[in-house]
Amino acid sequence: MKPLENGERYKFYLGDCLSVLKEIDNGSVNSIITSPPYWGMRLYDNQDDIHEIGNEGNFNRYVEILTEVFKEAKRVLRKDGSLWLNLGDKYSDKCLLGMPWRVAISLIDDGWILRNDVIWHQMKGTQSVKDRLRDSYEHFFHFVKSKKYYYDSNAILIKPSKLPITKGGATISSTGVSGKKYRKLIDESAELTEQEKANARHALDEVLAEIRSGLVNDFRMTIRGVQRAWHSDNERISGRAKELANKGYYIMKMYAKGHLPNDVWNIVTEDTWRTDSHCAVYPEELLKIPILATCPTGGIVLDPFCGTGTTVSASVKLGRRGVGIDLSSKYIDISKERLNNIGILL
Ligand SMILES: C[S@@+](CC[C@H](N)C(=O)[O-])C[C@H]1O[C@@H](n2cnc3c(N)ncnc32)[C@H](O)[C@@H]1O
Repeated sequence: MKPLENGERYKFYLGDCLSVLKEIDNGSVNSIITSPPYWGMRLYDNQDDIHEIGNEGNFNRYVEILTEVFKEAKRVLRKDGSLWLNLGDKYSDKCLLGMPWRVAISLIDDGWILRNDVIWHQMKGTQSVKDRLRDSYEHFFHFVKSKKYYYDSNAILIKPSKLPITKGGATISSTGVSGKKYRKLIDESAELTEQEKANARHALDEVLAEIRSGLVNDFRMTIRGVQRAWHSDNERISGRAKELANKGYYIMKMYAKGHLPNDVWNIVTEDTWRTDSHCAVYPEELLKIPILATCPTGGIVLDPFCGTGTTVSASVKLGRRGVGIDLSSKYIDISKERLNNIGILL
């Protein structure tokens, strides 16, 4: 069956996700974004006698079942589609089990390509442990089905906050860098040859011209013997260290059109009314980058463990279509009501 009929913007299916997924057509959704129950954490609202994932006595079985679910999900996903998987960890007998990575490695072994391990830093931890640090993050893995996949990087660029400014006739970057200090460091360097100094001054003039023209927003210059390369001084490891050794300097530019977000996202957990429904909800904010980057406008996002419908709600608000599956009739009702309410606002 088609996940959505023409003209439908969202739909919810009540049932076990593996069984429902088996009914859905091959290659019919653009993105799958989901947070399955974590192993051994809680019982959701399942009155029926259907297996609720997360309650397996043995965590290896949990990994096997999720791998089976995502094998079926992969069939339903388009060839250029993405899977975003949020998972939290678990302690057993004092030992952190590494559950997210156990699942991720099993999916890689099953043919998925892992593109990112995003750390969702939840900003606050609630545990009152005394003999270890508080947990404050979960993983949000980005997998793809094939090496060539849909990814709209322009849709998620972080735009520079300030435009270049002029101060006393000199152009300065958005963070106030005028190049004066770098010029002095080049002039006074005992490490650079005269030719290297001339090249470094020329490169500095060039980047300042790019700032004036608005192409570049900000920059940092590293000069041999003054600062060390950022990642590693080992030339075999770091391209920057190599550049520093060969040329005597390197310049890192921040382009005015923006830069891609990194893989640590500071997003507070959801603490609105929906947590009262005893479902581990994630915030819509967390889904913005996955939806914008990996599902085109009008495309379909599927959440096989949709809970209170967060994925479907965020997708519809961003001009995509959404499909949710859940075992619990209570959560399906909450999801439908949530989407009905958005309908009024749209
Ligand atoms: C972590 S919650 C998802 C919460 C959701 N992301 C939200 O923001 O509301 C996991 C959900 O998986 C559902 N679930 C558990 N086993 C399932 C299965 N076999 N098929 C479908 N849903 C299942 C639970 O009922 C629960 O709502």
